[in-house]
Amino acid sequence: MHDRFARSEWFRHDRFGLFIHWGAYAVPARGEWARSFERISVEDYQRHVDAFQPDSFDPGAWADAAVAAGMKYAVLTAKHHDGFCLFDSKLTDYSTMHNGLGRDVVAEFLDAFRSRGLKVGLYYSLLDWHHPDYPAYGDAYHPMRDEVAWKDRTHDFDRYLEYLHGQVRELCTRYGQLDILWFDFSYDDLTAEKWRATELVDMVRELQPNVIVDNRLEASGAQKGSIVTDAPTPFSGDFASPEQIIPTEGVRTESGEPVPWEACITLNNHWGYNAFDMLWKPSELVVRKLVECVSKGGNLLLNVGPDAHGRFPQPAVDILREVGAWLRDNGESVYGAGASTLPKPEWGRYTQHGDTVYAHVLEAPVGPLALTPLRPDQVADIRLVADGTDLPLAGGWHSPELNENALVAFGPDQTSTYPLPDPVDTVLAVRLSGR
Ligand code: GLC
Repeated sequence: MHDRFARSEWFRHDRFGLFIHWGAYAVPARGEWARSFERISVEDYQRHVDAFQPDSFDPGAWADAAVAAGMKYAVLTAKHHDGFCLFDSKLTDYSTMHNGLGRDVVAEFLDAFRSRGLKVGLYYSLLDWHHPDYPAYGDAYHPMRDEVAWKDRTHDFDRYLEYLHGQVRELCTRYGQLDILWFDFSYDDLTAEKWRATELVDMVRELQPNVIVDNRLEASGAQKGSIVTDAPTPFSGDFASPEQIIPTEGVRTESGEPVPWEACITLNNHWGYNAFDMLWKPSELVVRKLVECVSKGGNLLLNVGPDAHGRFPQPAVDILREVGAWLRDNGESVYGAGASTLPKPEWGRYTQHGDTVYAHVLEAPVGPLALTPLRPDQVADIRLVADGTDLPLAGGWHSPELNENALVAFGPDQTSTYPLPDPVDTVLAVRLSGR
């Protein structure tokens, strides 16, 4: 067993976390890539940095929203690609300590979330569009990538790496135990040892022996890196991080071993606050996508971008609360559960914990539901998870081939058709008999 399985035990149990993208980009409110997309210079961006004076920043309220959603951990952007730091770094003045706000947002976030029993992680951007020693002209993404005036500018990438390693050391030494470090991301030749990744991960493991690290020191949201090979590098990470997609079959190594993974997905279509993005994913969809991740052995890290005041958008708060209501009734099919040994049924999905299979029924049957491929003698008992109701196996159906399946009815008359008790996802706990 890989160390990553031991290290990620809590993570694979907890399944559902909150991603928070927040920074000066909340002010222009066009997402965290605005500087790159719109070729905004550091100088022109400064007015947003200056204006980033959130008057309603209350990490306790964020943590309450996460708890209400049934989330078990959270990851905050300590620094995003714009280079603006949300923590008290001795290595730069480009932070919330020095833009007039005078607050260590990371420290406040960690306190609030830990005090509510949540695990905590920090996102740290490998890209830095503010640091003078980060590649600019000709880089794939830097805001000044095609600015001719920048063509002959020299930079010293080693000096940037000293800064990057130094900031990661700060995060690993000054903020107590971190549960996740989320590096983002590698591209072109800026990958792996270009970041001095072995040295970086050695330092992280020494300072934070329990932390789990994502796979982006050698990958992006689109590739996976050597975590899926049989010869992973020391910096291959503890989990894969598919972005804005749920992998069709989960994530496995070349030889078929499961790999811990976490799909990071936005609640609308942006990470950082976007004032114009109203395309919120409804709570029904979030519940089903969370269940889909678990049914494939993965986690869901769901993102909210707080606005420039520091508030979660109201639609996000409402959706999170609705997801939490479902999880309060059905959480045992998610927390501690994972992929089932049974194949996916046509009417929904299975998750599993030990000898209990959770049937997530997404489509109502006509008559009783066939718990394919289980036979009646393979089922010890069936319970409706939401309220504990014991449901008997249905039998004696008129169609002989159906009687080979374990059947369950959602009402007293097994020949009748009933609506599902929960149209979002009706969960049955099916205890296997071991036969
Ligand atoms: C990306 C993006 C980004 C976001 C992230 C989350 O690679 O650059 O803005 O932070 O992934 O997965």
